[in-house]
Amino acid sequence: MATTEKTRMNEESTGRAAVGLEKVVLKVYRFDPETDERGRLDTFEIPYVDGMTVLDGLFTVLEKIDGSLAFRFSCREGICGACAMFINGSYRLACETQVARLLREGHREVHVMPLPHLPVIRDLVVDMTRFWECYEAIAPWIVTRSADPERERPQSPEERKRIDEYVGCILCGSCFSSCPSVWTGKEYLGPTAMMKTFRWVADTRDEAHDERLGLVAHEKGAWRCHTIFNCVEACPKKINPTSAIQGLKGRTVAALLRGAKGLRAGRKALADRP
Ligand code: SF4
Ligand code: FES
Repeated sequence: MATTEKTRMNEESTGRAAVGLEKVVLKVYRFDPETDERGRLDTFEIPYVDGMTVLDGLFTVLEKIDGSLAFRFSCREGICGACAMFINGSYRLACETQVARLLREGHREVHVMPLPHLPVIRDLVVDMTRFWECYEAIAPWIVTRSADPERERPQSPEERKRIDEYVGCILCGSCFSSCPSVWTGKEYLGPTAMMKTFRWVADTRDEAHDERLGLVAHEKGAWRCHTIFNCVEACPKKINPTSAIQGLKGRTVAALLRGAKGLRAGRKALADRP
């Protein structure tokens, strides 16, 4: 459908009837691999009120103008990471990004793009397969070798505080999408998997620290990070994956110096776990 025709329909179905409401222009990336040779931006003019998020705006389009629009969401409160998108030139969570705030920041329109550098399945939905494969590869669960305690494995508030930042990652994929080493090195595990490895290496309850270091201590792991800091800028949760990767490098060198056996066994030990 031509943009002008779509805009006319926008006005009929949403805009002019909503007397007293401000309008905002949403430009949304569209791509259907079954019918389109390349992507395009569709323009929608919709009413908005203070407090309305970009995700709300996408729902307005979906429910009132174009039911074929595809996008991901789940929690609608910044927890699941599903709605990460590239909005007005920045990585943001659509459910946490208020339209009025974007306008107050000086943007005249709202541009909504899928996460860059990932294959587009349709519209704003990208293929996260590689992201999840990288995450799975680092065994993102606690590994213990000692006998199970009678009750839980305790951790002091101070010990937990050291990993708080990294536990707070919602696996939205923004840092992965922003990383030039991911773009250029198909084998690189990426900043999320590296940061989550550090999360477990710094967790006092985990008992596979050296193996974990072995898993990422190679050119497809921590050493592939060139400290470009894109991931830090991209993260909507203000997490710093680069500092975690630096921590991994430091701990790996220390493990090498003390001749840790687990380093070499790392990949195999974790890969063999049931
Ligand atoms: S570190 Fe930040 S940007 Fe990366 S996946 Fe986690 S929440 Fe998303
Ligand atoms: S819908 Fe869950 S983070 Fe936005």
